[in-house]
Amino acid sequence: MSYKIAVIGGDGIGPEVSEEALRVLQACGLDFSTTEFDLGAHRYVKDGVVLEDEDLNALKGYDAIILGAIGPAIGSNEVPPGILERGLLLKLRFELDLFINMRPFTAPKNSIASGSDFVVIRENTEGTYAGEGGFLRKNTPHEVATQGSVNTRFGVERCIRFAFDLANRRNKHLTLVHKTNVLTFAGDLWQRTFDEVKESYSEVTTDYNHVDAACIYMVTQPQNYDVIVTDNLFGDILTDLAGAVTGGIGLAASANLNAAKTGPSVFEPVHGAAHDIVGTNKANPLAAIRSVSMLLDHLGESEKAEKVLNAVIAASEFLASENEKNYSTVEITDLVIERIN
Ligand code: IPM
Ligand code: MN
Repeated sequence: MSYKIAVIGGDGIGPEVSEEALRVLQACGLDFSTTEFDLGAHRYVKDGVVLEDEDLNALKGYDAIILGAIGPAIGSNEVPPGILERGLLLKLRFELDLFINMRPFTAPKNSIASGSDFVVIRENTEGTYAGEGGFLRKNTPHEVATQGSVNTRFGVERCIRFAFDLANRRNKHLTLVHKTNVLTFAGDLWQRTFDEVKESYSEVTTDYNHVDAACIYMVTQPQNYDVIVTDNLFGDILTDLAGAVTGGIGLAASANLNAAKTGPSVFEPVHGAAHDIVGTNKANPLAAIRSVSMLLDHLGESEKAEKVLNAVIAASEFLASENEKNYSTVEITDLVIERIN
């Protein structure tokens, strides 16, 4: 079976780290072909294109999509905020129904959260990201802006079920993170759904953290987490913190999953385009590489997925015992490839 993979390298270091991720897919023996899609800030600046229907429809025909990073250089005002986020990244999440954002963290020994290994399951198509809201009396002294949080029983339940399934395959512990004491409508729906789904998973132990407290525990006792499930915005914020305490955002991988497999899923590092280091060979490719290990897993190539994952973890442990700065983008990939067997 030869897989068709679409590659959106994007901006800044995006194409560099995607290239390395593809090199690892090759090294583990996957049979695949790639097609590049020229999208991102550079394309928007060049000809005003964000994501046209033609490209979106073409993307739907692939087995998987690798995404590097999207975004203009910090301080550049060529792309207004929201254009690429809503028009490209979130459009892919919504249109491809990528309802799970899976972000795994394995902390190397020199990191704050050393010894921890956990996964955050972030709901990826609802909450405050849904785009509900608007202005009243814009640009007047009495201006009003609202931005609602959309939580459907269907969306919350499929996310929570996915998280229970995952916890059941891992260390059988699932923590719901929310703010049920203040967000009494959305929080109630999440808590009730969680409690109901829990009935079908007798082997999974559960916990609940308010999101502010979770930020403390993530730093003081991250080893207690196995799987965390949370809403879109809490998950966005919490996973940046998780990245910071588990070796840095350079290691943080993510999979935007259409877990129902009715179309392709998108695999991308959590980090951004880092225009300041483009072309210097300093970008850490490990997040992009761990993302393709999730790609392999999602395609059912579990043996290859595990090999790549173990190699990434071994390489990050090795780098933790070395001066990481002595290793270039390409050399770090080579460390991974040497460890695939
Ligand atoms: C992420 C990013 C995106 C998000 C932005 C760029 C739309 O921060 O993938 O975490 O908020 O989800
Ligand atoms: Mn984010």
